[in-house]
Amino acid sequence: MDKLLITGGRPLDGEIRVSGAKNSSLPILASTLLAETPSVIGNVPHLHDVTSLIELLGRMGVEVVIGDRMRVEINSSTIKDFTAPYELVKKMRASILVLGPLVARFGQAIVSLPGGCAIGSRPVDLHLRGLTAMGADIEVKNGYIHATTHGKRLKGCRFVFDVVTVTGTENLLMAATLAEGTTILENAAREPEIVDLAECLIAMGAQIEGAGTDKIVVRGVPALHGCVHEVIADRIETGTYLCAAAATGGRIRLRDARPDTLDAVLDKLVEAGASISTTADTIELDMKGNRPKAVSVRTAPYPAFPTDMQAQFCALNAVAEGTSTIIETVFENRFMHVLEMQRMGADFTIEGHTVVCRGVPKLSGAPVMATDLRASASLVIAALCADGDTLIDRIYHIDRGYECIEEKFLALGAQIRRVG
Ligand code: UD1
Repeated sequence: MDKLLITGGRPLDGEIRVSGAKNSSLPILASTLLAETPSVIGNVPHLHDVTSLIELLGRMGVEVVIGDRMRVEINSSTIKDFTAPYELVKKMRASILVLGPLVARFGQAIVSLPGGCAIGSRPVDLHLRGLTAMGADIEVKNGYIHATTHGKRLKGCRFVFDVVTVTGTENLLMAATLAEGTTILENAAREPEIVDLAECLIAMGAQIEGAGTDKIVVRGVPALHGCVHEVIADRIETGTYLCAAAATGGRIRLRDARPDTLDAVLDKLVEAGASISTTADTIELDMKGNRPKAVSVRTAPYPAFPTDMQAQFCALNAVAEGTSTIIETVFENRFMHVLEMQRMGADFTIEGHTVVCRGVPKLSGAPVMATDLRASASLVIAALCADGDTLIDRIYHIDRGYECIEEKFLALGAQIRRVG
């Protein structure tokens, strides 16, 4: 099993390109199931989660051609199976994103229930309640969601999410595009990835208003056609590299970024002492060799501070000057990285959903284990700030969400290598 060996102690310094967003690519690739003619999706990152979804589409009989620089051409007219099997869904929870499109276009789907994961229970009850409200008949048996519309089109409805859910909003948004009549989604997620998905659907002929706000109105159309769409920059990858540069007292320039999707994160980095300058698609951060100041954060749905950046800020606070609190409100069990960083000398106390971080001047390298995607990224940051060598085990988590991670960190002057 691959591990990452990192020798810490050097400030990062350099320039890299931001990849396309994983969390946009997954719903957008799933949305091509809605279109009657082929679509071409560009700026797709080469990640395990993306190849898992492509594998799932392929197993359903969808024709997928991966071109140069991950331009993916998808023709769903060859589909012959409407099943997402357990062995694929358990590898990648976001496989649930095929449910809405399959039910809306083909009137049937059999999708494995995703089950729990390392960061909490993560139910999909709202996806199912929303589709039921649109007229789908849904039964859960033997670990599978069986959905059918009995040959009819879904029907538009008003649906209020009682929890803000990103993939739940995406599933119902996709389903609503082909429903009969108007669907109003209230308390919808407002993430930039929802806006990106909506733009792709609009390019396919969908009628959508309000994406990016908490009320999305969709006027259903009888059919959608293929489109060409470029995926938005990955704001979490961007935030991860910025955080790494800040934690090491370094300097970084990021190209092909979308700073307008990162307000909450950039504000916290400025509070930590970073100088930041942006253009429409670049971000420069300079810590001028200084140790970061401790910053308290509280995670919440967009536009607030993202839960997917919580672990990386734990790493920054571990070596910061002062004491901070990190409050996790989105997932119930997202502090596994804290226990690993304690093994590197971090001074953390967990109290329920809060971590109290007392910054120490230096961490020390240790063997550690990655438990989920963002936890892995935070351990890389901690390792870059540590004296000596850190060996991060179970690094397959990081390949789910960070494209060319060693190459990018090497370009920033880090000492990092993959070992078998
Ligand atoms: C998405 C992101 C993930 C991010 C998360 C929160 C993708 C592929 N993944 O995950 O990176 O960490 O948003 O920003 O985009 N919930 C329910 N019932 C439901 C659905 C969700 O109770 O039917 C709860 C969850 O348990 C959780 C909260 O809602 O506490 C938010 O989860 P959700 O936004 O759905 O996360 P994902 O869409 O799975």
